[in-house]
Amino acid sequence: MTSLPLSQLLLHVATAVQAVRDGRSLNDALARCPAEARPGTQALAFEVMRKLGAAEVLRRRLVPKPPPPFVDALLLSVLALMWPGEEQEGAEVAVDGARYAPHTLVNQAVEAAKQRARASASFVNAVLRRFLRELPAQVAAALADPLARYNHPRWWIERLQADWPDHWQALLAANNSRPPMTLRVNARRGTPEAYVQRLAEAGLEGRVAGPHAVVLAQPTAVQRLPGFAAGDVSVQDAAAQLAAPLLIGDGLPAGARVLDACAAPGGKTAHLLELADLDVTALDSDPNRLARVRDTLARVGQRATLVAADARDTAAWSQGRPFDAILLDAPCSASGIVRRHPDVRWLRRSTDIPTLAALQGELLDALWPLLQPGGRLVYCTCSVFQAEGRQVIDAFLQRETGASVASERPSPGHLLPLADNPGEGHALQPGASPDGFFYALLTKS
Ligand SMILES: C[S@@+](CC[C@H](N)C(=O)[O-])C[C@H]1O[C@@H](n2cnc3c(N)ncnc32)[C@H](O)[C@@H]1O
Repeated sequence: MTSLPLSQLLLHVATAVQAVRDGRSLNDALARCPAEARPGTQALAFEVMRKLGAAEVLRRRLVPKPPPPFVDALLLSVLALMWPGEEQEGAEVAVDGARYAPHTLVNQAVEAAKQRARASASFVNAVLRRFLRELPAQVAAALADPLARYNHPRWWIERLQADWPDHWQALLAANNSRPPMTLRVNARRGTPEAYVQRLAEAGLEGRVAGPHAVVLAQPTAVQRLPGFAAGDVSVQDAAAQLAAPLLIGDGLPAGARVLDACAAPGGKTAHLLELADLDVTALDSDPNRLARVRDTLARVGQRATLVAADARDTAAWSQGRPFDAILLDAPCSASGIVRRHPDVRWLRRSTDIPTLAALQGELLDALWPLLQPGGRLVYCTCSVFQAEGRQVIDAFLQRETGASVASERPSPGHLLPLADNPGEGHALQPGASPDGFFYALLTKS
């Protein structure tokens, strides 16, 4: 953890929280944070994102009229950090190895206010001290509001209730947990079993969690991973590691033409090329993100043809040559990876979901004609919403009579980020606790 004073970190955290409330991603906000403050700010800001709903409810109870944006963001940050959840008692706050007593948080928040909004310092002091005085009653009252109880927007809670009536509460709780750090071992360089041994020699603990997957006992900086710079291993969740084997199936002929239609930053492109000798076209509409595919492939020692284009505009980029296989890892709400991106729930709007579902359908419609007869297409999204998974595929199969769900191996369907994988059938290893994903494997008659 950083040695910067907590008041400095709180200034950066409040700036990041204000950016998210203005619609910018936490990653972008953290990228603007001075390097020496970034790890400490990130640890605190992630914690704040997981409790921001409760903080909003508390702030409205304590101060009905919103204060100026920065002061509001500072209050919300500290209220979130002090939120005790259902325990309803103030206790030390532990974040990434550091522990803060509630009165320390209040004092440091007042210091932070003095630096950025001097006139509001006594107001910040008064609000936060009142919260501590009234804590059990304030928390009990706030918990009556689902925004505080589940720390997700109401529309998100309702969508999960409709989509997963037996699992919605577990899904909401999982979104507020810390995800495991999972590695993909480069199949050209070794096995997961051998890599677990290399980890042990480096003083790190991991266990095999799939054909190429290793889960670390504790997350760590990638620089500490043996062979990371040389491309022996990459960071990739166990659910994301299903894409490449599903597309390759029992094997694609050497040199088979494969399209990775939404490729950046290239995790699945790299996995495809680690598993087979393929002629891969990696396409993405965002040229900046596409540059990351080049870096990813260079690190693992692979090559692909990179194309910056809108995948739907096939006339502009495809030159009419069909592909043997297509991976469509479509843009989505990212509702399956909230553990890793806790700001996502506050950035999305309910109206984004039908817009994204329409885009996903357009991508399928545009790419399907590029697939050879007999070819395979994997559609996936890192979403747990049925509207971006099952419903997109059901609607596509209605429109496209030449498409069918492949019979040679089960399509995983929806995977939920829960330890016992109660998704739609295809289980990863028990206890894998994968990211939320949807997978369908289609074939063309
Ligand atoms: C889920 S991410 C892909 C992750 C990637 N497959 C991986 O495993 O690293 C979706 C990507 O789709 C891209 N994208 C969004 N709309 C697109 C479009 N119309 N055509 C092509 N790419 C698009 C985004 O820029 C983003 O990089």
